[in-house]
Amino acid sequence: MAYNLLKGKKGIIFGALNNQSIAWKVAERAHEEGAEIVLSNAPIALRMGTINELAEKINAEVISVDATSLEDLENLITKSMEIFGGKMDFILHSIGMSPNVRKGIDYDALNYDYYHKTLDVSAFSLHKVLSTARKMDAIKEWGSVVALSYVAAQRTFAGYNDMADAKAILESIARSFGYMYGREKQIRINTISQSPTPTTAGSGVSGFDKLEDFSDRMSPLGNATADDCAGYCITLFSDLTRKVTMQNLFHDGGFSSMGMSFRAIEQYEKSFKECPE
Ligand SMILES: NC(=O)c1ccc[n+]([C@@H]2O[C@H](COP(=O)([O-])OP(=O)(O)OC[C@H]3O[C@@H](n4cnc5c(N)ncnc54)[C@H](O)[C@@H]3O)[C@@H](O)[C@H]2O)c1
Repeated sequence: MAYNLLKGKKGIIFGALNNQSIAWKVAERAHEEGAEIVLSNAPIALRMGTINELAEKINAEVISVDATSLEDLENLITKSMEIFGGKMDFILHSIGMSPNVRKGIDYDALNYDYYHKTLDVSAFSLHKVLSTARKMDAIKEWGSVVALSYVAAQRTFAGYNDMADAKAILESIARSFGYMYGREKQIRINTISQSPTPTTAGSGVSGFDKLEDFSDRMSPLGNATADDCAGYCITLFSDLTRKVTMQNLFHDGGFSSMGMSFRAIEQYEKSFKECPE
């Protein structure tokens, strides 16, 4: 059901690769809620993914951007402001990639060029987006920026590798910029810490299916889906959350407050029966 929560609002959504992507669900939901959207993704994602299907469905322009390039970002913001006829109300940063994870290189043996790439794509890109938008005065007062994070920023999850470091930096950038941009223009910046979600990036993490199952068993409400995440993003882009800023907001069915659940204990006990020694 739509509530017109974003009626008249305009925003850029980064990171819709295919219909599994969290950004894809956010774009669909934002459109239903009345927003006008510009979609953006990396050149390779435009070639390999299906973003044009989404663009057609929600009547959005697609602008190719490597989010690590300041030049690309400046071009994106200039063109988006032309399309919108002025400043925008919201931005979704839904970008993540680790060459170390992709190549199965363990944390204790990271390739440092890849490590730098992980941080640049997955964390510094948020700083670059915000810094470019601020320089170009592209976001309206009381606008809202949301980036997607994961609880591995606070606690260690086997296999999440250098993405944990990227998420910790991402959350810190949201706070540091949230202070500056909030004081100057009442622009709010938050991160949403989302449950494991079966997407292209998510499924690339080693042991993802076990992580997803564990997380679901541990969470009293079960894992939050990409659709659930879209709903939460809409509330943060809306005027109903105007005083929420500089927060890392857990959207994980309760996982981050749990220590152990009966459902997880039951599964753990089974493994003792199967492997008695
Ligand atoms: N899937 C999960 O389990 C999960 C959980 C918590 C947080 N997240 C975060 O959600 C966000 C979206 O990921 P997703 O799960 O929807 O997967 P996804 O693979 O659909 O999206 C990741 C996006 O990042 C884009 N990207 C990569 N390099 C880029 C670059 N240089 N410039 C611009 N875009 C680039 C990709 O093209 C892709 O569209 C990421 O930040 C991810 O870390 C995902």
